[in-house]
Amino acid sequence: MQTHEIRERFTDHFVKAGHEAVPSASLILEDPDLLFVNAGMVPFKPYFLGEQNPPFKNGTATSIQKCVRTLDIDEVGITTRHNTFFQMAGNFSFGQYFKEGAIKHAWALLTNPVSEGGYGLDPERLWVTVYLDDDEAADIWENVVGIPAERIQRLGMADNYWHMGVPGPCGPCSEIYFDRGPEHGAEGGPAVDDTRYLEIWNLVFMEKERGKSTGPDTFEIIGDLPKKNIDTGMGVERVACLLQGVDNVYETDLLRPVIDAAEEITGAKYEGDGPDAIRFRVIADHSRTGMMLILDGVTPSNEGRGYILRRLLRRIIRSARLLGATGETMERFMTVIMDTMTPSYPEIAENRERIIRTAVTEERAFLKTLESGTHRFDEAASAIKEQGITQFSGEDAFTLHDTYGFPLDLTLEMAAEAGLEVDVAGFEAAMSEQRARAKADNLAKKHGHADVSVYREWVDNNPTEFVGFSDLTADATVLGLVINGQSVTQAVEGDDVEVILDVSPLYAESGGQTADRGRLVSEGTILEVNDVQKVGKKLWVHKAKVTAGGIELGQRVSAEVDEAWRHGARQAHTGTHLIHAALREVLGPTAVQAGSLNRPGYLRFDFNYTEQLTPEQLEEISTIANQAVDADFPVNTIETTLDEAKKMGAMALFGENYGNDVRVVEIGGPFSIELCGGTHTEHTSQIGPVAVLGESSVGSGARRIEAYSGMDSFRYLSKEAALASGLAASLKAPSEELPERIASLTEKLRAAEKEIANLHRQQLASQTGALLDQAVEAGQFTVLTHRLPDGVSGGDLRTVATDLRGRLAGKPGVVVLASADGGKLPFIVGATKEAIELGVKSGELVKLLSGYVDGRGGGKPDMAQGSGSNAEGLDAGFRAVREELAGL
Ligand code: SER
Repeated sequence: MQTHEIRERFTDHFVKAGHEAVPSASLILEDPDLLFVNAGMVPFKPYFLGEQNPPFKNGTATSIQKCVRTLDIDEVGITTRHNTFFQMAGNFSFGQYFKEGAIKHAWALLTNPVSEGGYGLDPERLWVTVYLDDDEAADIWENVVGIPAERIQRLGMADNYWHMGVPGPCGPCSEIYFDRGPEHGAEGGPAVDDTRYLEIWNLVFMEKERGKSTGPDTFEIIGDLPKKNIDTGMGVERVACLLQGVDNVYETDLLRPVIDAAEEITGAKYEGDGPDAIRFRVIADHSRTGMMLILDGVTPSNEGRGYILRRLLRRIIRSARLLGATGETMERFMTVIMDTMTPSYPEIAENRERIIRTAVTEERAFLKTLESGTHRFDEAASAIKEQGITQFSGEDAFTLHDTYGFPLDLTLEMAAEAGLEVDVAGFEAAMSEQRARAKADNLAKKHGHADVSVYREWVDNNPTEFVGFSDLTADATVLGLVINGQSVTQAVEGDDVEVILDVSPLYAESGGQTADRGRLVSEGTILEVNDVQKVGKKLWVHKAKVTAGGIELGQRVSAEVDEAWRHGARQAHTGTHLIHAALREVLGPTAVQAGSLNRPGYLRFDFNYTEQLTPEQLEEISTIANQAVDADFPVNTIETTLDEAKKMGAMALFGENYGNDVRVVEIGGPFSIELCGGTHTEHTSQIGPVAVLGESSVGSGARRIEAYSGMDSFRYLSKEAALASGLAASLKAPSEELPERIASLTEKLRAAEKEIANLHRQQLASQTGALLDQAVEAGQFTVLTHRLPDGVSGGDLRTVATDLRGRLAGKPGVVVLASADGGKLPFIVGATKEAIELGVKSGELVKLLSGYVDGRGGGKPDMAQGSGSNAEGLDAGFRAVREELAGL
């Protein structure tokens, strides 16, 4: 049975039982805790937690969710059981059926004959596990389904209690296993061997809410969920293995064709379990995951999701090369995996070109990287060797990783070939420093995972009525007050308090638009609102400070939006839509939105695009946006269904959760149609000028355009103009000629600097001969130890030392020079052939000197260099060198 048929049967089975079929959500949802959707239940989380009401008619749903788990990328291919991408088929009940319903549904689909729509698995080969004390589930399996007691096993927290790894819904679970037979391992059920007994379905009895971690594997339970729910996940790929009679997922119709293609391209054979076999599996697994991520809008970059994609693609390329491929391979792999996946994901068809382009661009860049990184590696390696060191520093390894995209294992391999070790601990330290920075950035984001239980009652019973699309003030009743996470009945002057109202005209931060500022007032009372955040989708939390009087539950207040603020926010938000539309006009539909921010006067728009924009493209985008302002297009908002909106051609954004009612913002007919819940101007001319500041990279693969809107545009443009005329006046040139003028000045300056450096060198050379007068005799050697004037670089030291050594040729001579250059003290030792014959090793003398000047270095017998930091020790060091030579 082909995979897409397994999927269809699953959906049919549950739709017949009254479930609403919900399409897979994008792999990327706005959840700060998750890089990618990694379980079928993720998009349903708000319904389990009771933050939102499930919009499904019978309170039940079914989906086949794309999932990516990338925690153990390095393990892929070593065993055949784990894949970074998989499809999880699930059925969900929100407060409807519970354990018995879930168990019966799953059992029927697995064991019903194929002719009746089931999978036709032999019931005798199915085993189940339940949580330690879950007598209820065990009883249903034994007495309702009829599984013999000896095939029902009880396991602990680690196996049979499911949670998301982060705060969220959780509960005990029951897993269904298939016995693949004695050739796959030991008797005794899943408790003994989970290779022979393959887990195919997990039924989670979702009834609790998990809080923070209390240890590596422990966490607190905050309490009961509002309802008892069901979340199940069946591994589509694993069932495919069973029904296709193959040993593992790499042999299924989805992945085997990629392995075949890899065999053809590389000339290697897929067999056994050695390193080559692992590489084939890496190629197959990662091709699929990479393709699915690109499909959902991820582009390769150096952080977050983009970085995972980059790693996957690069591992494919490396694996292919190690198997013997010489040229580009990506287009072929992507084509094959798209062919196998399209029957299940028809949307691949319209994205083929973009997927190939993204993957191939990354491949070309990485092949170049491999080349320039290898070059950089060689340079670093020879510098190290020259200094007589055998360890490649952690910092160098990190630079290779960070700037050149070299995975550590590649650096390790190349270092080993070059006879060097790598300071792995140093590398790890640099990495964790970078990670800590990224984490701090994330924490700074507002939507950190807060405990929302205090708001639950209002979420359930009193969602906020938002009237701010039409009104800027509203009379409202105070329904709730929260201080420091605790619900309170009143707040007094000076308190920072969160206020829940029945009605609000204030816009809550969402869709990239910052929250409105405003006030809540009643007689004698003023609260300044400085932020408004949503809990779930329907509850507005006003974060405010009481600046006069006090406030209590039930009080009537007038909620007022700061009009100037809102005016600016509307300008910026509508401006963002213009920039987005202009961008797609100039770059085409491959420039997919990745994020945006608009606050009064300023907007920024991030999009996935692999190339830097040219100044001409930027100019064109800016012109189109301002022409749209000039055209004074009406801005219309339309409430409609998702399907209708798609028909209108609205751009659906990644990360949007489904829900059927959507709001479409349309500007100038087909010019811009977007799904958007933000506040907008009524006409485009109200935006005022849009001044594009420029574009930049936000991690490679994503780019950012920034612009001012309204009066801020005007202020920016007039400041720029003043700057240009000021420069023009001081350079005494018309402003159009400024670029040329500055370029020529810079060039002159560069030439002058070069000239000075030359003169410096000549001066040094002319004095060199005279230096020899200072040479002394030490034992059998003529030795010159000398500190040159400050500011002579290591390179120039070498020139002078070489010259002096030449002048001493024919007798045993040693030259030792140093100079303080910035905070550093470069030094050098050179020895003539005759000196070397008498046992002098310049590298050893450099080490000796290093000890006196807190330095390090090394090199060959005839010339060695080092660098120190303590010039005070230099005289003693010189003396030590002379004494050492005298003793030879
Ligand atoms: N959430 C559970 C899992 O991921 C069942 O869907 O295994």
